[in-house]
Amino acid sequence: MDHKTIFLMICLVLSTLFFIPSFLAYAADDHKENKWNVLLADGGKNDDNGKHQKKKREHHQNSDNDSSAITPVNNSVYQAQCGACHFAYQPELLPESSWIKLLTSLEDHFGETFELDADSQNIITDYLRSNSADHSTKKRARKIMKGLGNQAPLRITQIPYIIKEHHEISPDVLNRESIGSLSNCIACHTTAEDGIYDDDNVKVPK
Ligand code: HEC
Ligand code: HEC
Repeated sequence: MDHKTIFLMICLVLSTLFFIPSFLAYAADDHKENKWNVLLADGGKNDDNGKHQKKKREHHQNSDNDSSAITPVNNSVYQAQCGACHFAYQPELLPESSWIKLLTSLEDHFGETFELDADSQNIITDYLRSNSADHSTKKRARKIMKGLGNQAPLRITQIPYIIKEHHEISPDVLNRESIGSLSNCIACHTTAEDGIYDDDNVKVPK
């Protein structure tokens, strides 16, 4: 081997020795940067916009298979008697214990007094009992039950999940003549009668 070849080989060895660690360092840096990107992107996901997109995504899955819908009212006695003064709330919106409380205090029903004949009372009790939120496997009904514990609120609008979903609506909006109160589900949920409460079908009236 002549001097030139030896010199070249030494150069090659040296440059390889230099190259490997610097490549590793570069790769590590690159990795770090990727990690930062991931962290940053995650950070972005935590803002409202991200949340909204996530919600929308979940939501689209829901509307695809309609798993978030609850069963529409399908009992004519209930519809006629309990839909006379307000929207006939679906049984899956309250636990059985709440419905029983309501049905046993009709003489003081939020300031109103009314009576049911014995037949209607039985039919409505059976209907509400067997279809209540705690007897349902529907996703929405499970959300209603979550965090309720043993409480039996007299109002759907007192359920933690329902309160949480509406906490951004101001009293001024609820007081509008076209709405009146949060109890008036159909004022804003255009598909409430079909048991569909998705945000796609919400239209808050002026
Ligand atoms: C005579 C009229 C009348 C009839 C009939 C009636 N309600 Fe009501 N109901 C009211 C009034 C008034 C309220 C209070 C509404 C408000 O605060 O905006 C109310 C509120 C409710 C609420 C609470 C809504 C909420 O979450 O704020 C439920 C649940 C309810 N009624 C169930 C029933 C059931 C079940 C029947 C049938 C057995 C029935 N109602 C029949 C007048 C009536
Ligand atoms: C003043 C209008 C208004 C009234 C009245 C109202 N809601 Fe809502 N509701 C909304 C709005 C707005 C949202 C939030 C939609 C969103 O997340 O963008 C909502 C969200 C919901 C959700 C969650 C929807 C989802 O996509 O997960 C449920 C369930 C619901 N409402 C049920 C009810 C029930 C039951 C009643 C009646 C007791 C009611 N709402 C009354 C406006 C209203």
